[in-house]
Amino acid sequence: MTDTLTVRDDRTGKEYKIQIQDGAVKAMDLRQIKASEKDFGLMTYDPAFQNTASCKSRITFIDGDAGILRYRGYPIEELAEKKNYLEVAYLVLHGELPTKSEYEDWVHSVTYHTMVHENVKKFMDGFHHDAHPMGMLVGTLGALSTFYPDAKNIFDAESRNLQIYRLIAKIPTLAAFAYRHSRGMPYIHPSNDLGYAANFLSMMYTPSPTTKYEPNETLAKALDVLFILHADHEQNCSANAMRSIGSSHADPFSAAAGAAAALYGPLHGGANEEVIRMLTEIGSVEKIPEVIAQVKDGKRLLMGFGHRVYKNYDPRARIIKKVAEEVFQVTGRNRLLDIALALEKVALSDDYFIKRKLYPNVDFYSGIIYQAMKFPSDMFPVLFAIPRMSGWLAQWQEGLLDPEQKIARPRQLYLGSPERHI
Ligand code: ACO
Repeated sequence: MTDTLTVRDDRTGKEYKIQIQDGAVKAMDLRQIKASEKDFGLMTYDPAFQNTASCKSRITFIDGDAGILRYRGYPIEELAEKKNYLEVAYLVLHGELPTKSEYEDWVHSVTYHTMVHENVKKFMDGFHHDAHPMGMLVGTLGALSTFYPDAKNIFDAESRNLQIYRLIAKIPTLAAFAYRHSRGMPYIHPSNDLGYAANFLSMMYTPSPTTKYEPNETLAKALDVLFILHADHEQNCSANAMRSIGSSHADPFSAAAGAAAALYGPLHGGANEEVIRMLTEIGSVEKIPEVIAQVKDGKRLLMGFGHRVYKNYDPRARIIKKVAEEVFQVTGRNRLLDIALALEKVALSDDYFIKRKLYPNVDFYSGIIYQAMKFPSDMFPVLFAIPRMSGWLAQWQEGLLDPEQKIARPRQLYLGSPERHI
C-alpha cells in the first residue's frame, strides 16, 4: 500500500499522484492540477471547514462518532473525576500534568495575577447599566492589551508565560466585575486564600466588600468540574478565531477578545442561554410534542442539540447530568430539568433526531445548573469563556510556534460580476 492518492483530471486526461500524510492530502498539492497553462490551479471549496484540517495539533482529541473527548490523551471523564481545573489548564497548556512543585508554582502565579488595574474598573464603569456581560468581557479583554504593551513580545517564551498567567487569572475577575456592574453592586476583589472556582463565586456573590461570604464547597466543586469540561474543544469556532487572529501576530489579549466574541454567538457559547429561554418558553412537559413538531417542520431548532463534531452523545453532557444532581442537593431541583429530561427522551427516540444523529450537547444541561446556582442567563457564555481561556491560549501558542503556520488567509471562489465599466 502506498500513501498516495492518484487523481485523474478528466478535463486534460492528466494523472497526478498526491501524497497522503496523517490521513490528509495537502490542499496546496492540488494547485498543480490545471486545465490550461493560465489556469490558477485547483482549489478545494469547504465553507465552514467541514472537512479541512487547518492545523496539526497535539492538544485535544475528539472522536465525534464514538463520543470521545481527551485532553493531551487523558479521557475527559478521568480528568473531571480526579483533577481540578487549574491542573487541567496546566495540562492543556503544557502537555503534561504538573508535578507537585510545578502545580504549586502554577497556582501561585495564577493566584497572584488575579487583580486588575484600577483603570479597568473605570473602563467597566463606562458600560451602560444593562450591557450584556459577555459584551463587557469582550471589551475589557481587548482593553487589557493596552495595559500590557509587553504582550506584543509574542516570540519571547517568558513574556508569553506571563500573559498566560494574566489571562487565566484575570478572566474570572473581569467576568465577576461585569456581573457586579450590571447589578450596580460594588466590585469584590479576589481572595488569594480561595481556589479558582471558589474565588470566582466569592467575587460574584459576596454581598458587599464589608461582608464575609463562604462559597459553598459542593457548588465550587461543581463549577470546577464544569470548568474542566469547557477547557478546550480543539478547532471550534472560537479556537479558530484565536488562532486566526494570533496568526497575524496580534497580542494574546486582542486575540482572546476576538475568540470571546466568537463564543458570544448563539450557535456557540450562547447556546445554553438559548436552551434556558427555550425550556422556559416550553414551560411544561405537555407542550413537548408541539415543540418537536415545529422542529421537524424546520420552524425552529432544538437548542442544545446537535454538534458539528459529535454525532453521538456529547461525553461532557453525560458528566454534567451527574453534576446537576449534586448541585440540586444544595440548591433544590430546577424544574426546567424535568422538561429537559422529557425533551431529551422524546428527541432520542424520534426518527428525525436519530437519522440526523442529533444528541444533547454540553449546553443542554449546563444552563440548568448555572441557573440553579443563581447565575443569570446572560452570564452563561461568560461562564464558558472563563475556562476556555486555557484552551484558547494553548491553541494560540501551538499555532504561533508551528513552523508550518502562516497568517490565516483562506481563498474564495469569486462568482461576482466580471470586469465591467460605468
Ligand atoms: N435542532 C433541529 N434540527 C437540527 C439541529 C437542532 N438543534 N441541529 C441540526 N439540525 C438538523 C439541520 O436542520 C440539518 O437537517 P437537514 O439535513 O434536514 O437540513 C441536520 O440536522 C444537520 O445539521 P447541520 O446544520 O448541517 O449541522 P452543523 O454541524 O452545521 O451544525 C450546530 C451544528 C450549529 C451545533 C447545530 O446542530 C445547531 O444549530 N444546534 C443548536 C445550537 C446549539 O446547541 N449549539 C451549541 C453547539 S455546542 C457548543 O458550541 C459548545
